[in-house]
Amino acid sequence: MKICCIGAGYVGGPTMAMISLKCPDIKVTVVDINADRIAAWNSDDLPVFEPGLTEIVLSTRGKNLFFTTDVDKAIADADIIFISVNTPTKTYGIGAGRAADLRFIEACARRIAKVSKNDKVIVEKSTIPVRTAESIKRIFDTSGTQARFQVLSNPEFLAEGTAMTDLENPDRILIGGERSPEGEKAIQKLVNVYAHWVPKKKIITTNLWSSELSKLTANAFLAQRISSTNAISALCEVTGADVDEVAYAIGMDDRIGSKFLKASVGFGGSCFQKDILNLVYLCEHFGLPAVAEYWEQVVSMNNHQKKRFTVRIVHSLFNTVAGKRLAIFGYAFKKDTNDIRESAAIDVCRDLLAEQAQLAVYDPKVSSETVLSSLGLGAEDESVTHCQSAYEAAEDSHAIAILTEWDEFKDLDFEKIYQSMNKPAFIFDGRNILDLEKLRAIGFEAHGIGKS
Ligand code: UDX
Ligand code: ADP
Repeated sequence: MKICCIGAGYVGGPTMAMISLKCPDIKVTVVDINADRIAAWNSDDLPVFEPGLTEIVLSTRGKNLFFTTDVDKAIADADIIFISVNTPTKTYGIGAGRAADLRFIEACARRIAKVSKNDKVIVEKSTIPVRTAESIKRIFDTSGTQARFQVLSNPEFLAEGTAMTDLENPDRILIGGERSPEGEKAIQKLVNVYAHWVPKKKIITTNLWSSELSKLTANAFLAQRISSTNAISALCEVTGADVDEVAYAIGMDDRIGSKFLKASVGFGGSCFQKDILNLVYLCEHFGLPAVAEYWEQVVSMNNHQKKRFTVRIVHSLFNTVAGKRLAIFGYAFKKDTNDIRESAAIDVCRDLLAEQAQLAVYDPKVSSETVLSSLGLGAEDESVTHCQSAYEAAEDSHAIAILTEWDEFKDLDFEKIYQSMNKPAFIFDGRNILDLEKLRAIGFEAHGIGKS
């Protein structure tokens, strides 16, 4: 059995590494048109930071896991092809700002149709709008190829930062396919891959459209919980309630459950906002404006939360941050990843720069170039300094904003940091990871999310 995965990104790389580890009998080839990315996957410095990933890649690379830019050969050889390319929000034309840009998916389908000589199972791994499989099938059916294809939907539920444990121990594996004899055969083929390590009862099969829609729905529900908590956090700040206590109290209710109730400066990542906007667009497309509006509020609340955080900083610092050095602790959209896509840090920093603040940014895994380019700045720009440590960033600053919950921030020597800062010294904990009372005892003016 041979597997090819098109797209060596945050989803394709880790997922194929896990398959190669658990299925020594399967040859897994990951391809990408980005030669730099492939070179990085073949080096000691992988392009994706994910705890546990390097160890797995080092143990299987060159044995049954391969990374190459030879897309056509890998497609031609494969029995199963995963499409794991990016599906960003469209920035142009019809549906701009909301619909998914499917041009990379379509390019893959056309490539597969062109170079395939034998029958294959095509697996949609990327998150896509419901009924995308229909378009892919149309491309195959009209391509004139002799090869026959079965299209499956197998969305990825891994979260960055915990990708390897999520992949090893998934809550469920979802496989959608056509409910025909050929479709069932293709589904079974993919079930057999996961059955190498995932218990059968956790592998669920559905029709294609249910699977495609389940992914968008899962992300919309998760994001909705965060926006709901963040909405309540604003109320906590003006009433004396503590959002962590409220979340704990409601999370004890089995029907609600304790996960994904953590108030924050706002959710980020490549999925939540993109998928909800995609859902909104689909609802509008199918003539359901009230449903579209309902889900759009989840994103609006998130934007409001990011804005609220910046406003709180500016108000606290006597309504002006112009010319003041502000330390930014964390830039990634969450801990244990080097990914900054849709990170709340980007919006907060952009708004603070608009107030003419001087930013000193430290993130353990995000490079200076990544920070600057996300803000549209060049290397020579003096409004942003990239620092090698949290201590360096804090020195001479007026305030610290914690935007990512990296564990190392909890172990910092805040007495030492306090001494090195301008007074009054402020901390705005956008992730509620610090003990505000302790910081106040040192002398800080400390603020959390949803805490008065
Ligand atoms: C998400 C889904 O969890 C995953 O199943 C899907 O396949 C892809 O999208 P990911 O974006 O990697 O994964 O990260 P996730 O852990 O879901 O966090 C998303 C954002 O929400 C982060 O910015 C995180 O900090 C924030 N968050 C999460 C909160 O603010 N509060 C919470 O309680 C949980
Ligand atoms: P994700 O988080 O969904 O994995 P990424 O952007 O990290 O998204 O990865 C997607 C990868 O897919 C990128 O490395 C990109 O170069 C690759 N890609 C996009 N289109 C194609 C294509 N037609 N053929 C091969 N690789 C592609």
